[in-house]
Amino acid sequence: MRRYSRITGTGSCLPPRRLTNADLAADLARRGIETSDEWIVERTGIRARHFADAGTNSSDLAVAAARQALDAAGVGPEAIDLVIVATSTPDMVFPSTACIVQHKLSQLSEPARGILGCPAFDVQAVCSGFVYALAVADAMIQAGTARRALVIGAEVFSRILDFDDRTTCVLFGDGGGAVVLEAGDTPGILATDLHADGRHAGILCVPGTVSGGQVLGDPLLKMDGQAVFKLAVGVLDKAARAVLEKAGKTEADIDWLIPHQANIRIMQSTARKLGLGPDRVVVTVDEHGNTSAASIPLALDSAVRTGKVRPGQTVLLEGVGGGFTWGAVLLSM
Ligand code: UT7
Repeated sequence: MRRYSRITGTGSCLPPRRLTNADLAADLARRGIETSDEWIVERTGIRARHFADAGTNSSDLAVAAARQALDAAGVGPEAIDLVIVATSTPDMVFPSTACIVQHKLSQLSEPARGILGCPAFDVQAVCSGFVYALAVADAMIQAGTARRALVIGAEVFSRILDFDDRTTCVLFGDGGGAVVLEAGDTPGILATDLHADGRHAGILCVPGTVSGGQVLGDPLLKMDGQAVFKLAVGVLDKAARAVLEKAGKTEADIDWLIPHQANIRIMQSTARKLGLGPDRVVVTVDEHGNTSAASIPLALDSAVRTGKVRPGQTVLLEGVGGGFTWGAVLLSM
């Protein structure tokens, strides 16, 4: 009998400090940078974002999201035999944030120590990270190398923003989202489709690196927004059609589109190309901003907890971002 993977629990975490566009505009004005709520809402759909306080790392947001996902799945950390964290803002250069998350979860209780020893690693695919991580976990479960995985997206993008660059600093936020993905006889994940084109590495990057005890190059985010925008709208519907074809489904089978939450205009364009009305798109960019690898699991968890996404429904996840990377996952909840 074929082995499948299925999401059995979702969770998320937003740091408590919430900044509206007006709050951010006031902060930026003190630095001599001009922006407005009107510009940000019109161009992006973003109204607010959450920023982590100093001392809160991606692993902290990941652990909080993972605990919720484990509770929703009705299992403890000891039941997990694979940990994958998608992040571009890891706690350290190494070890992986996944290893730090595994350790923190193991400290929750005596039985939780059982999570120690299972494989744990990070996936670095920037804003496509969660879709990549979910596809990898699905493949490992199908191959029989894991039974129950924690798949997490967690970011503290506020740490890599240039607050003197209004074209980028108003776009991003911090957060974490997680799912428990379990082996079973019925699908679950119906199809996955991943891509990258490294020729475009320069249009969205943090070019700095650590060398000889110093940071070499600029350690803050750089983005050619229009180039990213054009590439994103050009590839997302193709990835969507690819997973539909692999799963033997059509656009009409999609109950919910949960795209990477970067810009409402990109999401609307993809939905239009797929013939989906706005009522079938989960939107959280207004309240979260762009949380990179955390954005899809944050949106998924919010849709599950508000009762939008229900068991048995067909959901299309789509990620796009730095690399240039993109991909889609079609799944039955
Ligand atoms: O997560 C990975 C994926 N990332 C994305 O999907 C991001 C994709 N790109 C975008 O979402 C959009 O390109 C942006 C939201 C980044 C920018 O929107 P845009 O409509 O492409 O604006 P633009 O870059 O063409 O800038 C238009 C104007 C410029 O002024 P001039 O040259 O027309 O006078 C900018 O200087 O808006 C100005 N501007 C701002 N004004 C007020 C740029 N940023 C701001 C700002 N506040 N924060």
